[in-house]
Order: sequence, then structure tokens, then C-alpha cells
Amino acid sequence: MRIPLVAANWKMNGSREFAEQFFSALNLDGASCEVVVCPPFPYLPLVAEKAGEMVALGAQNLSEEVSGAFTGEVSASMLLDWGVRYAIVGHSERRSLYGESSEQVARKFVAAQSAGLTPILCVGESRQEREEGRTLEVIGRQLQTVAEVAGSDGWKCSVIAYEPVWAIGTGVTATPEQAQEVHRFIRGRLGDAGATVRILYGGSVKADNAESLFAQADIDGALVGGASLKAEEFAKICRAAD
Ligand code: PGA
Repeated sequence: MRIPLVAANWKMNGSREFAEQFFSALNLDGASCEVVVCPPFPYLPLVAEKAGEMVALGAQNLSEEVSGAFTGEVSASMLLDWGVRYAIVGHSERRSLYGESSEQVARKFVAAQSAGLTPILCVGESRQEREEGRTLEVIGRQLQTVAEVAGSDGWKCSVIAYEPVWAIGTGVTATPEQAQEVHRFIRGRLGDAGATVRILYGGSVKADNAESLFAQADIDGALVGGASLKAEEFAKICRAAD
């Protein structure tokens, strides 16, 4: 019912040469999941050209505004113009390094959907919040803010990524059981859309831990950072998502 999805978040890495080499090395034979690559903005057209039909295009961020005097920002309709289908919103690096509030994240979520993009909404707790036993409370609140702004139908055309902040780029992955507990909780908060919305896990996903994560009932794929910069490793993760 839910087709697994594996998304690459290249963050601020790469170059023209890197993108060209990545796609000439990427062999997705044997992978039947949906694959999304989110490069930095300037490489979107190049990735669109090189990636072929197997790979959908995603953006790492977008503006919550439609157009106007917002220097340095990129709107949802501009992304759509370049064939982009997905947009990551609320990544923890945007929340912590660029001060994006849950309200702003919610507006980006709506801006993406209004233009016809599918938002990939990231939620997740810090190490301290987990140690204090507040994981579900924190994630519940992050989801609630989006639900209030996007309305009751808002979850329909969306993807959620559970990314515990303490697992991002650290090499420490949540155990499959820890992840499953949060994924089940998230699904329960999505109302009718819960049955169809894909919930990805993100945070130090690698070829050798992907399979045990994907074996969990409510884990429908992954949002992959570091390991998505290596074509062979990324392809292995995609193959594990069947
Ligand atoms: P990571 O990043 O796979 O390098 O931990 C994941 C993410 O930030 O989306």
C-alpha cells in the first residue's frame, strides 16, 4: 500500500563534477522503491538531466513566501519550474542553525503543498529531550503546529521523516525498536492519512543498518545524508527498501 521511498539529502556538498560522477556510478538495478535526490539548488537542473526516470528531484529547503522582495530565497513555484517534486522542510539543521520555528516550518509545508510539491517534513528530538523522556511530547508538538496551519487534510500529500537530532551525522543510529516506537506514534497522529503517508527514518542510515530499520512495520524508507554521497552505498540502501 505504501511504496517505500529513499531520499538523498546531499546538504551543502558536491559540485558539477561530483553530480556527474555520482549518476554515472549510480546503479539502481534491483531497487523497486521510489528514489529522490535533493542536491543543493544550483545543481537541480543538472541532476534533473543526469538522474533519468528512476530518480525524482527534491529540494532541501524552500521559502514560505510566494514571490517578492525576499533576497536569497527560492519559492515553491520556481522549484516546480525545474521539475522538482519534493521539498524537505524543517530539517533539524534549518531549525537549529537558521532559527526556523515550527510555525515557519508549517508555513513552508503549506507553501510546498499549495504549489503542488510534496513536503518531506522532518521532526525529531534532541539527546537531552530523549534522556528526559520527552521524545513523544516534542514530536507531538512539532506535528501539531503543522496540523494547525495546514488543516485537517494537510497530511494527505506529504511525507514525514523522523530524524532524531542525536543520530544525524553522528554515526549513532536509533535502534530499529526506538525508531519503530516513534514511527508508530507519528502514524497515530496523522488521522485518516496515516494509512498512506510514508514515514521515513533519518539519522546515520547506512547500507549495513538499513535492512533492520526497513523491517519495522511503520518505517517506509529513509532520508539519507552522509551515505547518500556514495553512489554504491546509496544504491545498497535503496535495494534494502523493497
Ligand atoms: P546523516 O544525515 O544520514 O548523515 O545522519 C541525515 C539527515 O540529516 O537527513
